[in-house]
Amino acid sequence: MENIIASAVSQVGDTHHEAAPRRSPPGSFVIFGGGGDLTRRLLLPAIYNLACAGLLDDGFGIVAVDRADLTDEQLRDNVRTALEDFTARRGAEAVRLREDVWAWMLPRIRYVQGDFESVQTYQAVADVTAGQNCIFYLAVAARFFGPIVDRLGEAGLVREGPDAFRRVIVEKPFGHDLQSAIALNTRLLNTLEEQQIYRIDHYLGKETVQNILALRFSNGFFEPLWNRQNIDHVQITAAETVGVEQRAKFYEGTGALRDMVPNHVMQLLAMTAMEAPISFDADAVRNEKTKVLDAIHPLVPADVVRGQYAPGMVGAKAVPGYRQEPGVDPHSLTETYVAMKFGIDNWRWAGVPFYVRTGKRLAARKTEIAIHFKSAPYALFRDTPVDKLAPNIMVIHIQPTEGVTMQFSAKIPGPSVRLGGVRMKFDYAEWFSEGPSTGYETLIYDCMIGDATLFQRADNIEAGWRAVQPVLDWGQDARSLAFYAAGSEGPEAADALLARDHRHWLKIG
Ligand code: BG6
Repeated sequence: MENIIASAVSQVGDTHHEAAPRRSPPGSFVIFGGGGDLTRRLLLPAIYNLACAGLLDDGFGIVAVDRADLTDEQLRDNVRTALEDFTARRGAEAVRLREDVWAWMLPRIRYVQGDFESVQTYQAVADVTAGQNCIFYLAVAARFFGPIVDRLGEAGLVREGPDAFRRVIVEKPFGHDLQSAIALNTRLLNTLEEQQIYRIDHYLGKETVQNILALRFSNGFFEPLWNRQNIDHVQITAAETVGVEQRAKFYEGTGALRDMVPNHVMQLLAMTAMEAPISFDADAVRNEKTKVLDAIHPLVPADVVRGQYAPGMVGAKAVPGYRQEPGVDPHSLTETYVAMKFGIDNWRWAGVPFYVRTGKRLAARKTEIAIHFKSAPYALFRDTPVDKLAPNIMVIHIQPTEGVTMQFSAKIPGPSVRLGGVRMKFDYAEWFSEGPSTGYETLIYDCMIGDATLFQRADNIEAGWRAVQPVLDWGQDARSLAFYAAGSEGPEAADALLARDHRHWLKIG
């Protein structure tokens, strides 16, 4: 997290202090799956952005490894096209690919053609990376994670020298339940040391997710209130408007719970609920995250709602139900929505419910954390027209808008005491001008400088899975699947989950 601290900006009035972040060490960035979609859409643009920011060393190089038969020149053409697409897509006022940066990148891009299971592939990788620092990025289907790391080990490619680090970035999904996550950790740890493994959760690359810790721990007035004396409950929402898109094959066997909760949602929950780490050192932060996830009370069926989208309207567009999507079983029991009530059994949070919900084809795209504070005592207003006090809510907006809103009561002007709910908003875009980013810049850069704070340690991953494992153990049951119209706020059963506790969800759309 060094870069976050290094670039901490103090902005009050016109004051703006920023320490220059340091350049990455030289070395090869080897991407398995170098011809794939993730590489094209996110990794290459992120590397380009790092190059634009002057954060890459002249001794930096990209080695793309994939099965397609390509020459270096063909790969470079593909990379250029990917970057042109990225800059065209992102630029508010048509930002063009920077030719100076491209000229710098071009000779630093190499291609290795080969099968991920074949020994020759690793020999070819060894030839182009000899002796240097290396990051191996596994942008491949999950079934290749184990075999690639085994082969890297057999080829001696992950042996570190006094002047050369060897690190492996592992994409998601990391396992499909607790047992398989433990098995994958065991397999990787046969070949690698824990500090060589960087398990990605792209939510941790999001500025506003990183800001949760800055907000909580660098301001004097949040932390004293951040506990069960003052907080009534917390709502975490990760809502999407997209459906299953072209991913039915993957999604049918995965579902919303596995896809979003043990990883992304648990990261949001952990950052909201963890104790203050003793430093921003990777292990200090990750220790606290695991502790809070381990304190989650075992789920019971009454606290879980599984839903699936039926046909409906997203905006003005009629869309099919999940079961009508191409590649989906017409009787599928896979959930596209899940809502859950978690309890955390520790001194800070006992008795404070954490309601979480995530789903596809909902009313809006919105990821946010809403902290609902307890209401003030009503007694003072008893003899006034005020009949109830609106709760104070602090909402941390993760996406698409990024910022923080506070909702509180203020006196409505006039002779009698009447209260109205008002909002105060901090909007990231208004205060900080940042260029377009993919969210992967920070993650890639942190791995280069050896900072694992924003990556998941083996025990973090396992704690996330452990929290949701009871639901996986119950299995998919037709009776427990609640349908909701595409474009809606989600299933009624999810409203009932909160209504039972005399609460209601904030609106998504
Ligand atoms: C991915 C899931 O990890 O996260 C997708 O596999 C989901 O199903 C995506 O759409 C959401 O990420 P973001 O950054 O768009 O919120």
